[in-house]
Amino acid sequence: MDGIDWKNLGFSYLKTDYNIRCHFRDGQWGELEVSSSEHVDVHIAATALHYGQSAFEGLKAFRGRDGLVRIFRCEENAKRMALSCQGILMAEFPVKRFREAVRRVLQLNARFIPPYESGASLYIRPLLFGTGANIGVKAATEYLFLVLVTPVGPYFKEGFKPVDLVIFRQYDRAAPLGTGNIKIAGNYAASLVAGHRAHQEGYAAVLYLDPKEKKYLDEGGPANFFGIKNNSYVTPCSQTILPSITNNSLMKLAEDAGMRVERRQIPVEELGTFEEVGICGTAAVISPVKRIYDHDLQKEYRFCPDGEAGPLSRNLYHRLRAIQYGDEADPLGWVEVLEGI
Ligand code: PLP
Ligand code: COI
Repeated sequence: MDGIDWKNLGFSYLKTDYNIRCHFRDGQWGELEVSSSEHVDVHIAATALHYGQSAFEGLKAFRGRDGLVRIFRCEENAKRMALSCQGILMAEFPVKRFREAVRRVLQLNARFIPPYESGASLYIRPLLFGTGANIGVKAATEYLFLVLVTPVGPYFKEGFKPVDLVIFRQYDRAAPLGTGNIKIAGNYAASLVAGHRAHQEGYAAVLYLDPKEKKYLDEGGPANFFGIKNNSYVTPCSQTILPSITNNSLMKLAEDAGMRVERRQIPVEELGTFEEVGICGTAAVISPVKRIYDHDLQKEYRFCPDGEAGPLSRNLYHRLRAIQYGDEADPLGWVEVLEGI
């Protein structure tokens, strides 16, 4: 595709040719529709606008050295979107149709799937929101599901270079029994002030603590947390974090590499004991962490003494990417090759 500097893409919106849409009306989902418009015409009283009935997903398509296009664990995103819909009383989009919509949008935008050598990928963003009008606080009876795509490079400008995180106790992204474990728009709105402050102060992201006791690590703004020590991969078990598909995959790869995997509460002070720390997600892949500053206790934790990611994080990163790009075998069947794109 002429005109796109694939190697220097950041994580931002770039117009592509088409998006896929599907309307829920009169109690059922209609046909998938192809649109070349970047806009939606929404009722002024739509529940998405007033009461936050909106959920999204994020997954990626990769073009391999062999020219084939692969998507990673798409069904997990479809299932998680269904859970998000249940969580805020929206009509669920069927898993099978979600996969079909993703395939269609990729076929239609194949020219935007970055070439293998660039290390970039095509980010796929399914979105589902309430379009029906309500002025009282209740769920809509009409919804729009859509899938847009945009080519992306690394989420953090550092790429696989280590980043800094900050802990602020005066902000939460989710309530203890709230919506932190589903991927709804409101969680991200709630994270904007803290995220903006973190960026202004030179950090890549906020590292949130559990909102109830502020004793345990929860997750990074857009990604799950993990720490590595004594050949163990340790990651939080918490009701207020998003169950990351990347983290779930890394746990399996860690086990496969002979590491122990611990999913448990991680007290903040335990940060001082990790040999390596990272945050992980579809957008972030793995972002190694070199420094975490606990703003309230004015305490800092440092990692990556030589300025580079540690060996175990590096190994996990390369294995994950190799599976996603088709460079290595995919023993757990995570990757779907899309024929004819
Ligand atoms: N945590 C949050 C808050 C996220 O927004 C994301 C991104 O989707 C993740 C974690 C990582 O999840 P996944 O690996 O499924 O992309
Ligand atoms: C993702 O990793 O897909 C995300 O959704 C994170 C962020 C862009 C919101």
